Amino acid sequence: MTHRFRDLLALEPLTADELTFLLDQSKPFQEIQKHPLKKLATLRGKTVALAFFESSTRTRISFGTAASRLGADTMNLQAEASSLKKGESLLDTVHTLDAMKPDCLVMRHAASGAADFVARHLDIPVINAGDGTHEHPSQGLLDALTIRDRKGRIDNLNVTILGDIQHSRVARSNIHMLGKFGCRFTLCGPAMWVPRELEQIAPRASIRRVFQVEEALEDADVVVVLRVQTERLHEPALSASDYILLYQLNRERLLRAKPDAVVLHPGPMNRGVEISPEVADGPQSCVLDQVTNGIAVRMALLFLLSAGHNEEGSHPVNDVQQPRNRRATDVKDPSHASR
Ligand code: NCD
Repeated sequence: MTHRFRDLLALEPLTADELTFLLDQSKPFQEIQKHPLKKLATLRGKTVALAFFESSTRTRISFGTAASRLGADTMNLQAEASSLKKGESLLDTVHTLDAMKPDCLVMRHAASGAADFVARHLDIPVINAGDGTHEHPSQGLLDALTIRDRKGRIDNLNVTILGDIQHSRVARSNIHMLGKFGCRFTLCGPAMWVPRELEQIAPRASIRRVFQVEEALEDADVVVVLRVQTERLHEPALSASDYILLYQLNRERLLRAKPDAVVLHPGPMNRGVEISPEVADGPQSCVLDQVTNGIAVRMALLFLLSAGHNEEGSHPVNDVQQPRNRRATDVKDPSHASR
């Protein structure tokens, strides 16, 4: 099957069919995570550039691990130790990386629209690993995959999102993703973090704002807890202890949701602030599944964007079936850059 993706910059422009295709493509890569030998040769000889202009732990490690499990090499730009510190522009930095001939660029940047801007200037595929408060498409996909696995579907669910929605690219990607499948959203948090305009971010999705957490959790199938950026908590307007009192997802509050509701958090968690430890570690929590699924989704994205499908139409995951019998020379390069 061919596909039309060149870059992955946002989920908003994608259709439900395209999003389903991306989730389905991730499925075989989930199997790889359970295999004792996880390394494929699918992207052998390819190079993935990882340019994180904003700090990141899990997303950067996840993309790096996904690339290495596909057999690709990585180039790492460490923003803190890079020439950005010496005043180089974003475009000069990415042109410099591009001149080292990577096959794909994964980038995170604090400015909304940065990945889109870079994609317009480069010929290689660009994957947005989070741009400002705009989108975090791979997170939206891995969250949907996790929900689909746990609940058997992603359509027509009641999704409650708790926290600083205004500044969250994760919330936006979740809404653009799950909204295409008829999910209904309840946004809850301090009023300054849940402004009225959020009701319009996905015009075809049902989005309401509720400021009382117990009411917001009523009948929820999915609860997405966002990280409280503690630098945004200011006394006396809103202190951490006020936040805990008013909005923390704890066991008692979770009882308001459906009994089989699942709880997601993109990480990193402020344990004991936005989520109580018993919920974070409880049976409804999907936090660690999200991390594992993140690698599968990112493997699928890197494979689709940097290699395309091989001629026989077989999936690269088949490469791992008989690892002991395989020699390096058996591996055919399946790459057909998808443009
Ligand atoms: C999120 C991000 O950076 O947008 N984290 C992540 O990628 N797992 C959410 C956050 O930082 O709060």
